Amino acid sequence: MKITWSFSRPVPLILIISSSLYLINGESFDYPEANLSTSWTNSPSAPHSVNFSDGSTVRSILLRGSFGPRYACGFFCNGSCDTYLFAIFIVQTDSASYITMPSIGFPQVVWSANRDRPVRLNATLLLKSDGDLVLQDVDGTVAWSTNTSAKSIAGLNLTETGNLVLFDEKGTTIWQSFDHPTDVLVPGQSLVIGNYLTASVSNTNWTNGGLYSLSVTSEGLFAYVGSNPPQAYYFKLVSGNKTSNVPSYVKFLNGSLALFVLSAEPSEPDEVISVPQASSAQYMKLGSDGHLRVYQWGDKWAEVADLLTGYLGECNYPLVCGTYGICSNNGQCSCPASANGGTSYFRQKDYRQPSLGCSEITPLTCVEQQNHELLELDDIRYFIYDGYNGINNPDMTGVDMESCKQGCLRNCSCKAALFQYGYNSSNGDCYLPSEVFSLMNNVEETTHYNSSAFLKVQNVQSGTVPKKKTSHMALIAGLSVGVLSTVACILGILMYLYKRGNSEEAEEDYLDQVPGLPTRFSYEVLKSATSDFSKKLGEGGFGSVYEGTLGDGTKVAVKLLEGLGQVKKSFLVEVEIIGSIHHVNLVRLIGFCADKSHRLLVYEFMCNGSLDKWIFPKNQAFSLDWKHRWKIIFDIARGLAYLHEDCRQKIIHLDIKPQNILLDESFNAKVSDFGLSKLIDKDQSQVMTAMRGTPGYLAPEWLSSIITEKVDVYGFGVVVLEIVCGRKNLDRYQPEEGMHLLSLFKQKLEEDRLMDMVDKHNEDMQYNEREIVKVMRLAAWCLQSDFTKRPSMSMVVKVMEGVMDVEENLDYGFSFSQLPKPMEAVGRIDAKFAATSPLLPSVLSGPR
Ligand SMILES: *[C@@H]1O[C@H](CO)[C@@H](O)[C@H](O)[C@H]1NC(C)=O
Ligand SMILES: *[C@@H]1O[C@H](CO)[C@@H](O)[C@H](O)[C@H]1NC(C)=O
Ligand SMILES: *[C@@H]1O[C@H](CO)[C@@H](O)[C@H](O)[C@H]1NC(C)=O
Ligand SMILES: *[C@@H]1O[C@H](CO)[C@@H](O)[C@H](O)[C@H]1NC(C)=O
Ligand SMILES: *[C@@H]1O[C@H](CO)[C@@H](O)[C@H](O)[C@H]1NC(C)=O
Ligand SMILES: *[C@@H]1O[C@H](CO)[C@@H](O)[C@H](O)[C@H]1NC(C)=O
Ligand SMILES: *[C@@H]1O[C@H](CO)[C@@H](O)[C@H](O)[C@H]1NC(C)=O
Ligand SMILES: *[C@@H]1O[C@H](CO)[C@@H](O)[C@H](O)[C@H]1NC(C)=O
Ligand SMILES: *[C@@H]1O[C@H](CO)[C@@H](O)[C@H](O)[C@H]1NC(C)=O
Ligand SMILES: *[C@@H]1O[C@H](CO)[C@@H](O)[C@H](O)[C@H]1NC(C)=O
Ligand SMILES: *[C@@H]1O[C@H](CO)[C@@H](O)[C@H](O)[C@H]1NC(C)=O
Ligand SMILES: *[C@@H]1O[C@H](CO)[C@@H](O)[C@H](O)[C@H]1NC(C)=O
Repeated sequence: MKITWSFSRPVPLILIISSSLYLINGESFDYPEANLSTSWTNSPSAPHSVNFSDGSTVRSILLRGSFGPRYACGFFCNGSCDTYLFAIFIVQTDSASYITMPSIGFPQVVWSANRDRPVRLNATLLLKSDGDLVLQDVDGTVAWSTNTSAKSIAGLNLTETGNLVLFDEKGTTIWQSFDHPTDVLVPGQSLVIGNYLTASVSNTNWTNGGLYSLSVTSEGLFAYVGSNPPQAYYFKLVSGNKTSNVPSYVKFLNGSLALFVLSAEPSEPDEVISVPQASSAQYMKLGSDGHLRVYQWGDKWAEVADLLTGYLGECNYPLVCGTYGICSNNGQCSCPASANGGTSYFRQKDYRQPSLGCSEITPLTCVEQQNHELLELDDIRYFIYDGYNGINNPDMTGVDMESCKQGCLRNCSCKAALFQYGYNSSNGDCYLPSEVFSLMNNVEETTHYNSSAFLKVQNVQSGTVPKKKTSHMALIAGLSVGVLSTVACILGILMYLYKRGNSEEAEEDYLDQVPGLPTRFSYEVLKSATSDFSKKLGEGGFGSVYEGTLGDGTKVAVKLLEGLGQVKKSFLVEVEIIGSIHHVNLVRLIGFCADKSHRLLVYEFMCNGSLDKWIFPKNQAFSLDWKHRWKIIFDIARGLAYLHEDCRQKIIHLDIKPQNILLDESFNAKVSDFGLSKLIDKDQSQVMTAMRGTPGYLAPEWLSSIITEKVDVYGFGVVVLEIVCGRKNLDRYQPEEGMHLLSLFKQKLEEDRLMDMVDKHNEDMQYNEREIVKVMRLAAWCLQSDFTKRPSMSMVVKVMEGVMDVEENLDYGFSFSQLPKPMEAVGRIDAKFAATSPLLPSVLSGPR
């Protein structure tokens, strides 16, 4: 006989007609058992399909009892419902075993068959004629099976206690869900030695892959955090001789979690963890945060106990403050810091969520073990202390602090030395974990011991130069003596290394030792961070930019540099310059990759993209108001002023244009793309070796090749006009006379009708005439043909701050230099660099 579960009429009616077997006590309409050769399909038209208001859906297959909270099993999903579990859950029922209270009695999943292999719509559960219970996905693949064919199975039973049982002719249990626990225990259920509760990945991802587990051993009850080897963060010990030959277990009873380690029922338990007495349905669940919480149904589901939080409180959970986080005051998180403001080695992964933990500013690498140091943290303890009989044993006992520290420095997989001692610091216990979870303050009065932590960090500032690199350093020192400036020196070295043939390796060695560099990533890491460079953000001077997400969740923009000859030089320049610069109006370089032929730069992600999208919008639906435009101009000015005047070495950007101004979520502007930058010594202009930049933003002196920071001031002037006018400098869609913004500007300045030019897409612009005209006059000053007459960027900032006025005596004869012909430009390029610095395609194809 094959019953197929696809009828859609009201079930109780059918049951009344077909059978009185279900009318236990004349009241119950439940469906707790099934015979062989039955199948159930996961379809919305299945009977007992209920949608809950929290977004979850159940399609129950078996349900036992009526009135109040009851166990049922069937298909379960939550949220988008692309995938389903075959699960046992607790639901609310009425007198006819209808599932009720869809807006508060949400299904509580207490067991599932296929956490790791969820199935889709139209999957089927089959209780086959041979006795096997099989969950088959819609494509026919087996997601799960009890493997009970040939075991004389007679039927399937969902018991009163929420145990799904396959029984044989004699009523003997052959297979039961209680023997295959997931992350929940229900009252009456035991966790037997050898079985584990394992947490799921998160509240929304049910996959069995969480860090935490709970199990019974011959010593007691233990909660572990997965690490290699696992470390216990909670234990309840039982000691003595075993008095029963029943394997050890722990059982969830009414009022307790009882440990039967030495003894067995009906004896008294060896130990108990008390649980509030049950006034209704309860279950306990090992959460994805490592807590073992008890939930109870009242007028809704609520937490009634948190069992593993011992006397040390919240801080004792391994990841309460993430990796390397320090927990204090029962849950406040901070990052490890050096005493008296020394070098910082850790930063918060997310400033808004300190509990996510901290990451190393320079990741540890075994390659440069000589640069490992220990960051000393006094009065800091770790959750694995109190080792016992093979659980959390110290790596060394009876040692002094120095031996403990050396023990860690000697072994690369050791990430910290944790030293726990009493009054005699020459005699303590030393732990050398290979992974560092959350740390916590040690309160001696509570713990009755002393503790210090020494975290292994990678020291890049270390003055010690590795032996094998000495020759390069000597070379650098030798060349630099009185002959060349620092910049020339670095370039010289690079040229030298480049010509040496095995340049690849040599250059990478060199990069390794540049002090204070941002994080170095491997190509593989960046490839996976950008999902194989799938989301392109844009195209910059030297290559494309892709969106990515680092392992810690930080969003980044990854610039993939192309064209090797050119890249080597510019790459080093970029890494050198940007790595050392931090300013709120400059896009920060987080890291880089120099991996074989791959050269990549990792920048902070700017979610509003580049300025051109906002001031030259294709559809004019959104237009920035004056306040935002003014702030953007001010931000650019401050960023450039910093580059020109406040850096150790003056930095000229050379390619200021809206595409190189990026906006964050609050429209703060930051200057980006230093790919075209060159270093020049303070107070000294330098003959440029390559013709670069973008037409429309090129200062007239580019023709004479005398380049100072005033080329940026000119570029800034153009950008200011573009921001105010909401159009491009060179706009071929405008009528002939208005094509060049600068000639229009000259005309309007002379007519004193500047407001004619202002962006008309935002009404707000017309109400700010006084300020706008002032900013436009400032732009006119920046655009002076004679570069010596232009203001410096710090003067621009002062004008905008209102502490200085715009120069009165301005020349309106702006020379918006037409692009020099490519051949002329090439003729000016220093022959030595010609091969490595070709003109950019955008220059060559620019308007004539
Ligand atoms: C299972 O089979 C038995 C015996 O044939 C029958 O009495 C019972 O009603 C069946 N149960 C269900 C749920 O179909
Ligand atoms: C539950 O929701 C699904 C999807 O929204 C819908 O197709 C189905 O008809 C609903 N079922 C019931 C019983 O309301
Ligand atoms: C379903 O998901 C929502 C949102 O994540 C959550 O609030 C709710 O508790 C979930 N319901 C069940 C029954 O797991
Ligand atoms: C499930 O089955 C129904 C009816 O047989 C069909 O219309 C639907 O497309 C199927 N859905 C999936 C996801 O296979
Ligand atoms: C059934 O057998 C398969 C293959 O041997 C195995 O992967 C699976 O875990 C077994 N299922 C159960 C519930 O033990
Ligand atoms: C099913 O389980 C109930 C208890 O929950 C029990 O009374 C009943 O005898 C079981 N049925 C079979 C066929 O084992
Ligand atoms: C759930 O977590 C697992 C393991 O971390 C992961 O492989 C899987 O993609 C996640 N699933 C979803 C839907 O996020
Ligand atoms: C446990 O058994 C051993 C040997 O059988 C015995 O020496 C010891 O005293 C016992 N311990 C306890 C606590 O009973
Ligand atoms: C648990 O024990 C208390 C006190 O003995 C009792 O009132 C309550 O009904 C019990 N709960 C259950 C679910 O049996
Ligand atoms: C901690 O160390 C200090 C100094 O070494 C010592 O005086 C004190 O007794 C120690 N505390 C404990 C709890 O052993
Ligand atoms: C401290 O411990 C060391 C090593 O066990 C021992 O040699 C020394 O005598 C102890 N000092 C004191 C004051 O007990
Ligand atoms: C290094 O430490 C790891 C774990 O911290 C340990 O497994 C390994 O045995 C240690 N190696 C040596 C040589 O001590």
